[in-house]
Amino acid sequence: MKYSVGGGTGKDVAIELGITNSLHLDLNNGWNALIDEIPSGADFIFSHPPYWDIIKYEKQRKKYSEYDLSNNMPYEDFIKKLDIVNEKIYHSLINGGRHAILIGDVRKKGQYFSIIKDMKWYGELESHIIKIQHNCMSNNKIYNDSSFIPIKHEHILVFRKNMIWIFSQKSTINIKQNIMTITEITWRDLIQATLEYLKNKATIDDIYNILSKSKKAENNNHVREKIRQVLNSNNNFKKYGNQWCLSIT
Ligand SMILES: C[S@@+](CC[C@H](N)C(=O)[O-])C[C@H]1O[C@@H](n2cnc3c(N)ncnc32)[C@H](O)[C@@H]1O
Repeated sequence: MKYSVGGGTGKDVAIELGITNSLHLDLNNGWNALIDEIPSGADFIFSHPPYWDIIKYEKQRKKYSEYDLSNNMPYEDFIKKLDIVNEKIYHSLINGGRHAILIGDVRKKGQYFSIIKDMKWYGELESHIIKIQHNCMSNNKIYNDSSFIPIKHEHILVFRKNMIWIFSQKSTINIKQNIMTITEITWRDLIQATLEYLKNKATIDDIYNILSKSKKAENNNHVREKIRQVLNSNNNFKKYGNQWCLSIT
């Protein structure tokens, strides 16, 4: 079974492989992954959803659908919708069945979005194949800023269903923490951050005034001495008069 049939490549491949019982589902042929049931159980489902809104399938369809996963929408909404579809696909598999999903990464306004990392993973990951991405939208673009590595690949993840009643789901959590509140950090790293914060010019007292409030300083009675020792023993830190700065070349 193949969902997101689009231009029909999947059907052509199935015919070539002599597979006669495959289904090819897409909004283009009236099947809505967000609303409709998957019409049959299967031992293999290949899905090829839109890469967020990079290609607008509405244009190919010449018809707007509020359910189109390639509509303009916040990234978080796209991921939520993709999760709904992927969970639905997973539950429809027979035990031992596989879901292979082909999906790429996206870069927008300099920000990199890893769809495979942000979506939920249902079942056991069996394979992660990296494939060259042909006909990228970005291939024909000329960028003013060439200081980034263009996306030339996409991913095929193969998930296996290996339990009848229990299903596993894996998701990425994004935690933001302040380095002042942790102990798993070196004094060198804390001093580097302090110098950056102080616009790269500070005395030992300036650094001490900040770092004495850190979690790392809580159980250390010799914070000032530690700062001095780290500043003197790292080539990254340079002294001009009584001021220190960070020098990374
Ligand atoms: C990357 S394309 C798939 C291309 C396909 N592999 C081919 O051979 O052309 C993504 C497809 O997802 C379809 N799509 C978007 N939202 C959908 C939805 N809610 N339900 C079903 N299909 C959807 C689009 O119509 C589009 O054809």
